[in-house]
Amino acid sequence: MNMLGKIALVTGATRGIGKAIAGRLKAAGAELVVTGRDQALLQAWEDQGALAIRADVTQVQEVNDLIEATIRHFGQLDVVVNNAGVTQDGLLMRMSDADWNKVLATNLTGVFHVCRAAIRPMLKQRQGKIVNISSVIGVIGNPGQTNYAASKAGVIGFSKALAKEVAGRNILVNVVAPGYIESEMTRALTEEQRHKIVQMIPLGRTGQGDDVASLVHFLVSEANGYITGQTIHCDGGLVI
Ligand SMILES: NC(=O)c1ccc[n+]([C@@H]2O[C@H](COP(=O)([O-])OP(=O)(O)OC[C@H]3O[C@@H](n4cnc5c(N)ncnc54)[C@H](OP(=O)(O)O)[C@@H]3O)[C@@H](O)[C@H]2O)c1
Repeated sequence: MNMLGKIALVTGATRGIGKAIAGRLKAAGAELVVTGRDQALLQAWEDQGALAIRADVTQVQEVNDLIEATIRHFGQLDVVVNNAGVTQDGLLMRMSDADWNKVLATNLTGVFHVCRAAIRPMLKQRQGKIVNISSVIGVIGNPGQTNYAASKAGVIGFSKALAKEVAGRNILVNVVAPGYIESEMTRALTEEQRHKIVQMIPLGRTGQGDDVASLVHFLVSEANGYITGQTIHCDGGLVI
């Protein structure tokens, strides 16, 4: 699972799960390209030797520029982890167009923007690994999260189609669907909501960013040569 000589792009790497994934790939020897919108947090990555580029995944030009800058700097792109994501919860009857559009634009259209730009160099290289971060909510649903569930289910369908499209060029596309992972996104829940969720998790505890990072690391490493188009849950058994 050595990543020496591999160029890996992680979106939404400024915090939470994305930060853990980027840290894991860097520790395994990968050269990192990290994105997000928080300039101060990106600077911290640059100080650690990563190529840190501010890019909003909803903005097609910013994403195209990001991939161009990566190729200009490193000459190749081997791994892409689409992790950037947001929630904007609310019951459907009261959900505004803005709340719907923001979540779809970030979680689904953002993945489309990044994959479309990134597969061009990968097709030329005749190799590449893509992992898109979905969520168990995209599989089982959740009241108050119709927008989020739709976006994350969309990522699963999108990834299966893309996996078939690019398999002939040895590009593997998989999805990781985390359950309840400690991060700023889940910190918004009340202690009571948190307690209820933990009761539903067979392993009896919430997950950490590193739990997701280990799985992503395996999927994008040379250890994985034959898994593509799959959605793997990292959820302590929540979905079984
Ligand atoms: N935590 C969980 O329990 C859980 C469960 C299932 C799935 N997930 C998924 O895992 C991923 C990471 O979640 P997290 O819990 O680590 O969330 P988080 O702590 O809120 O971090 C989200 C990351 O996404 C970035 N981001 C958001 N909008 C962006 C945009 N438009 N363009 C570029 N970057 C953007 C943020 O960076 P900036 O603020 O710097 O832009 C940040 O680095 C998400 O896709 C989420 O849906 C999380």
